Amino acid sequence: MQVKRFGVSIENESLEELDRLVLKQSFPNRSQAIRYLIKKYSVEDEWDDNKEVAGAIVLVYDHHKKELQNKSTDVQHNYHHLILSVQHVHLDHHNCLETIAVKGNANELISLANKLIAIKGIKHGELVMTAKK
Ligand code: NI
Repeated sequence: MQVKRFGVSIENESLEELDRLVLKQSFPNRSQAIRYLIKKYSVEDEWDDNKEVAGAIVLVYDHHKKELQNKSTDVQHNYHHLILSVQHVHLDHHNCLETIAVKGNANELISLANKLIAIKGIKHGELVMTAKK
């Protein structure tokens, strides 16, 4: 990929903020931090524009609640066209961690995630939004 250089004029305060980000996230330099911010913006934009995107839904729940598992399976089958893979990890005697990789229309992915996270008994759920490229 061709790299271009350009000059940026910003206030001292903004530059200090950028440097704080570089330190906090351990970016090797300011350029990498700026690339990260641009990508973050463009991913959010694609989700806002309801484009075809990718992501992961992470769920933590107690597998002893059988109703919950049935409900989760029902929801996942209703949205099977969006689901790429499901990984189930037994965290301990009670808790399971499920990571559901998804790809599709942004609004559909959000509604799938909301339905899963809202199931009674889910301890924690989160949708991680990224893009296809
Ligand atoms: Ni389990």
